[in-house]
Amino acid sequence: MSHAPHIAEEVRRRRTFAIISHPDAGKTTLTEKLLLFSGAIQIAGSVKARKASRHATSDWMEIEKQRGISVASSVMQMQYREHVINLLDTPGHKDFSEDTYRVLTAVDSALMVIDAANGVEAQTRRLIEVCRQRDTPIITFVNKMDREVRDPLDILDEVERELGMPCVPMTWPVGQGKSFGGIINLRTQAMTVFESGSERRPQDFEAIPVTDTATLKARFGSEFDAALDSMELATGASPAFDREAFLAGKQTPVFFGSGVNNFGVMEVLDALVDLAPWPKSRTSSLVVNKETVNKEVLPDDAAFSGVVFKVQANMDANHRDRIAFVRVASGKYQPGMKLKVQRTAKELRPTSVVTFMSQRREAVEEAYAGDIVGFTTHGGVQLGDTITDGSVALQYTGLPFFAPELFMTVVLKNPLRTKQLQQGLAQLGEEGAIQVFKPEMGGNMLLGAVGQLQFEVVQHRLKSEYDADVRLEGCQYTGARWITADTPTELKAFCDAYPQRLARDAADTLAYLCTSPYDVRLAQERFPKIHFHPLREHA
Ligand code: G4P
Repeated sequence: MSHAPHIAEEVRRRRTFAIISHPDAGKTTLTEKLLLFSGAIQIAGSVKARKASRHATSDWMEIEKQRGISVASSVMQMQYREHVINLLDTPGHKDFSEDTYRVLTAVDSALMVIDAANGVEAQTRRLIEVCRQRDTPIITFVNKMDREVRDPLDILDEVERELGMPCVPMTWPVGQGKSFGGIINLRTQAMTVFESGSERRPQDFEAIPVTDTATLKARFGSEFDAALDSMELATGASPAFDREAFLAGKQTPVFFGSGVNNFGVMEVLDALVDLAPWPKSRTSSLVVNKETVNKEVLPDDAAFSGVVFKVQANMDANHRDRIAFVRVASGKYQPGMKLKVQRTAKELRPTSVVTFMSQRREAVEEAYAGDIVGFTTHGGVQLGDTITDGSVALQYTGLPFFAPELFMTVVLKNPLRTKQLQQGLAQLGEEGAIQVFKPEMGGNMLLGAVGQLQFEVVQHRLKSEYDADVRLEGCQYTGARWITADTPTELKAFCDAYPQRLARDAADTLAYLCTSPYDVRLAQERFPKIHFHPLREHA
């Protein structure tokens, strides 16, 4: 495949990242400030106003609202300095963690926001695991330094333990809470003086060189001395910043600040541009002479390709259209170009193609690796699909589906709506809202979820979008494993032994349903050559 220098230049300008945090740590506030300081929005408040109630658990209206919000603000593009920054939002509720995982496959780095009083919390921990598996570089922002919080050394220690990698402080706090004096920038060796309020722009904060000890001591007294001591301890115990190690997911640069007060935010924005990686090559499989081989696709390859990491039904119930969110992996997207879905080899004719400019959608003029493009279609696209310009035959791998842990059977209240139910389940399955399993022996369809709330969303959407009123009933299953075998004979022997336990998912992949963890173990002992997969990657 040929490389295009113009494309390479555009790729190098891109930074695509997600913010990971526990609810309430300050993700929304920080997102808003990043948009504000990059000039993407003019007034604060617009992201915040769209934030859904965090306490929504089972209220349908809230679910609908959340969907609306996630369509509107799940991808935000901004320009800062010479760069194009794509910020991807991750769903906040733990029941949608599968969606979050998939969003994280579409980014090149992550910004971890932690509340300085609470340290690394449960939900952040889960997201960290995902980043660690993929060696995603992580920048850490310790927020809310204007509050009474924990000792910064303590926080660093905890972050190091949780991340399993050294922290490299890039800024260091002087005091905290009522006596929060500001941050020392270790690179410039200047202290930026804290002032509360949300009107100030980052450049409006006063900066004093650390060498001007007389002034700093006079103004910040013992807090300044204590900060110098702890900073020395912290820097003495941590390695120097090493960009290669950071890019390999082996160390995290740490920044301190207070998002709500616009303080310490610019340092993070600059770090995203200066330190975070631009899009790299991605692994795809390629069929060569009927053999499947892995191939690294470079972002500056001339051929356009991208992968669908999220499918979202449109909010308009009258139009059965959906937005497929595609992360561009290579080449250049231009309006009017021919598009092909690799799985079906069919042409994709989107009704519109949009980019996400902070709060609004705009028609795409061009997009490069790292950018997110939304294709509105009436179907024909599912999660994990690879879209190309038709000049290459490749399929990206790595978009994961987790084996569900919760199962329900679907019972249709009005049997005359079978067609609507099937259509609804097929589309919701393709969207990844739920996993749909069709038992090999027939009978009611099974729904599999990772979080309980997914069932409620699906039941509600089947009724409101497909006019299929269903009852969900509990069933005996507690897990599933996707099945593969080295030979067809082994697979057949297995299938013959457990016909009533087999089902096919939306991608027609065979799965074994279990009622307890022992089930899998017993089946595995009986059929040692069968592979039981807890994770299915789109292939
Ligand atoms: P989230 O998206 O991670 O859930 O957090 P969000 O930004 O909504 O922030 C959660 C709460 O923490 C908000 O307060 C927000 O104002 C506050 N906050 C964010 N950053 C800072 C900070 O640096 N210092 C302090 N002191 N507070 C911060 P809230 O009371 O829930 O909402 P609001 O009424 O203040 O908007």
